[in-house]
Amino acid sequence: MAKALIRHAVREDFETLLEIDEASFPGGVAYDANELAYFMNREGAETLVAEESGQIIAFLIMEVRRNRRTATIITLDVRENHRRSGYGTMLLKRAEDMLRDYGIEIYDLQVDVSNRNAVRFYNKHGFTLVRKLPNYYANGNDAYLMVKELQRS
Ligand SMILES: CC(C)(COP(=O)(O)OP(=O)(O)OC[C@H]1O[C@@H](n2cnc3c(N)ncnc32)[C@H](O)[C@@H]1OP(=O)(O)O)[C@@H](O)C(=O)NCCC(=O)NCCS
Repeated sequence: MAKALIRHAVREDFETLLEIDEASFPGGVAYDANELAYFMNREGAETLVAEESGQIIAFLIMEVRRNRRTATIITLDVRENHRRSGYGTMLLKRAEDMLRDYGIEIYDLQVDVSNRNAVRFYNKHGFTLVRKLPNYYANGNDAYLMVKELQRS
């Protein structure tokens, strides 16, 4: 992987993030523009993008609840032709650095049980499976609730 820049998303990134999300998930699971805007703009939301040579390659949205010292990864999407090149890892690590700075001790996410690559990715990064959430997605698929404790660094 070449050198990527990680930065906070700005308003002008929105259409690109929508396009990456639509290409990453099946219909009914990918966010539409309203949903994406909702998740990016609600209280505690932080969106990070990985950019290389001026092109956004990947992004991560998380919801931080500082008062409860918890957070949730809302989505993490890498362009298909750039997957397995370390972008997801890079975004997750940056997100974790921010969460530690905020004093977050534990964070979680939901992932489609059939999304083996993502489950493997999160396992590799220290998430453990808590339970299955039946019928979690709009298309009827189940999700796993996964959680990770953050060690002080
Ligand atoms: C899941 C996802 C975010 C991972 O990001 P990535 O940049 O491809 O992952 P990285 O290169 O940082 O890490 C690779 C690790 O993830 C796992 N992984 C990712 N893709 C994999 C694949 N196709 N096959 C097997 N393992 C895979 C492995 O543990 C791999 O480690 P390894 O190469 O040592 O075996 C990315 O594949 C993606 O955007 N998928 C579509 C959207 C999605 O499902 N998002 C997650 C749900 S929120």
